[in-house]
Amino acid sequence: MSKKTYVITGATSGIGNTLVKEFCKNNTVFAGYRNEKYVDELEKLGAIPFYIDMEKKDSIAKAAAFIKSQTETIDTIINVAGCVVAGVMEKLDVNEIRKQFEINTFSHLDFTQRLLPLLVNGKIINISSMASYGIFPFVGPYCASKRALDILFNSMAIESNIKVISVKPGVIATPLWGKSVQLNKKSIENCKNHEKEMQYMVANAEKNEKNGLDVHKVTDLIVKIDSLDNPKSSYTVGNDAKFAQFVSKLPQDWINKLVKCGIKAKVSSVK
Ligand SMILES: NC(=O)c1ccc[n+]([C@@H]2O[C@H](COP(=O)([O-])OP(=O)(O)OC[C@H]3O[C@@H](n4cnc5c(N)ncnc54)[C@H](OP(=O)(O)O)[C@@H]3O)[C@@H](O)[C@H]2O)c1
Repeated sequence: MSKKTYVITGATSGIGNTLVKEFCKNNTVFAGYRNEKYVDELEKLGAIPFYIDMEKKDSIAKAAAFIKSQTETIDTIINVAGCVVAGVMEKLDVNEIRKQFEINTFSHLDFTQRLLPLLVNGKIINISSMASYGIFPFVGPYCASKRALDILFNSMAIESNIKVISVKPGVIATPLWGKSVQLNKKSIENCKNHEKEMQYMVANAEKNEKNGLDVHKVTDLIVKIDSLDNPKSSYTVGNDAKFAQFVSKLPQDWINKLVKCGIKAKVSSVK
């Protein structure tokens, strides 16, 4: 197989880091980090690290300029970086929701647009989520940011000949879950009348980090998608994600009733 060039954001942990390890075996991989402490590790893997903070427009511009200075072509851009903003919608600070969209949605579009001239006959693979099906309460910003990511990039695919693939995993065992509890500390405390629900969300996040699907279930699929000439536009990974996809097709009132009942049952088990 000929050597290819990959650009991967969120390359320091979980899904992104596993992809770097896989693709570095035979290829050129540009690997995005936001914390200097990962640079050595990425270099040891054989990747070319680049700094990118998805919240900072100038860092996105500099990252794209750096990549353009190093290569003339890119085969695949894999937009992985992301986080979860959670909380009770009646109380959530709108600036937290803006931050969620900056990190999970707008930054990826901005970064990708800057790299498009190098992506000739290439692919864009976005790590979306089952959250994109939009049925999960208390993580409304996360669901909305992933749905928006899918809609914006799908528009791009319809408007052009660019191949865009959305990968929608269910729960995967990565550090995302522990980080989300830390990131949302304020919202977890600011949840009057929904204390039990937030307690359940925290306990569930802790469980997910251990009991989620193995990360290779997603990364093996991405390697396969990357190798296909005509991949599908969307892939759903895991039974939970397939269930979310099924539920999302029901009438909205049915979805709401079903999800409310589900949450009530789960919360009643919280001591
Ligand atoms: N784990 C799941 O259950 C699951 C399910 C569906 C979809 N996803 C999606 O998969 C993607 C990867 O998540 P993961 O599970 O692999 O979690 P992870 O281990 O926490 O990895 C997230 C990556 O994104 C980076 N990142 C976060 N905020 C950033 C920012 N502001 N600027 C630059 N980089 C930033 C992180 O950097 P640091 O190392 O510095 O934190 C890390 O490299 C995310 O988009 C997530 O929404 C995950």
